[in-house]
Amino acid sequence: MLDKKLLVGNSTSDDASVYKISDDIAVVNTVDFFPPIVDDPFTFGEIAAANSLSDIYAMGAKPITALNIVGFPDDLDLNILTQILKGGASKSKEASIAIAGGHTVVDQEPKYGLSVTGIINPGSQITNNNSKTNDTLVLTKPIGTGIITTAGKHGKVKDSVLELAIDTMRTLNRYASESMVDIGVNSCTDVTGFGLLGHLKEMMDASNKIASINYSRIPILEGVIPLIKNEMVPGGTFKNLNSISKNILFDSNVDDYQKILMADAQTSGGLIISVDTTKLPELLKSINKNNIYEASVIGNVRDKESSSVSIEVSL
Ligand code: CO
Ligand code: CO
Ligand code: CO
Repeated sequence: MLDKKLLVGNSTSDDASVYKISDDIAVVNTVDFFPPIVDDPFTFGEIAAANSLSDIYAMGAKPITALNIVGFPDDLDLNILTQILKGGASKSKEASIAIAGGHTVVDQEPKYGLSVTGIINPGSQITNNNSKTNDTLVLTKPIGTGIITTAGKHGKVKDSVLELAIDTMRTLNRYASESMVDIGVNSCTDVTGFGLLGHLKEMMDASNKIASINYSRIPILEGVIPLIKNEMVPGGTFKNLNSISKNILFDSNVDDYQKILMADAQTSGGLIISVDTTKLPELLKSINKNNIYEASVIGNVRDKESSSVSIEVSL
């Protein structure tokens, strides 16, 4: 590493950078923005902000300020932009941070997100490369948002199903993160574009371990499975599955639709937490007290036996 004060840089596919300022304080930085995935501009703003904040929470850090990043067409009603920014501001308020500024460019389609700055004690950052043998793997939100929002764009999903997916995406990972910081865990990452399997693979590869997970224990959004069977699957999800399938050992009874769901590209997904099994009861109790979604144990961590297998999946 060029700079010794850069405690986490871009070499480990971690969620955010960590830079040591003094013995007590390191700054944590991340940026994320994307085009609308839902119709309502306020809701889009909420989701984009929750998603951007998530990388700070995944490091076990505390966000302090954020800057808006905006792309907006010059021929579109400015009230839409106002609503997007209001959605982002409401989530920032919930995160107890101020949006301190930002920048807007003219763009063919709207885009929105935040660049977020957080703080942490140097060395207390929860990286993705410290998962230990016999750790338990916990997931804090249900999956399936990529498939459901794709179906939403095609008008092929019931409102009630879409609403549940939206609720998960706008839920901050703050409460689950505070629990894991309180109790102390080994590794964490959030589930976003590479899907549950993709982000878990990153964590296992960085930690030089293998994960054993059970499909039946993974929390899944209501109404998602019929949508997979109706081919409402985003391109990114298939891309995810193709790029990692050689490193995943699926039991022969795991169905194709189940593989697709586990690889589904998420927006503002939950945290995957790798925790020492002795601390598991305390962690679950704390998360389940603070978080809207129940934390689920999805598997455990083992010593790596073969260089090519990162995850084993059974039903
Ligand atoms: Co992330
Ligand atoms: Co990110
Ligand atoms: Co992390």
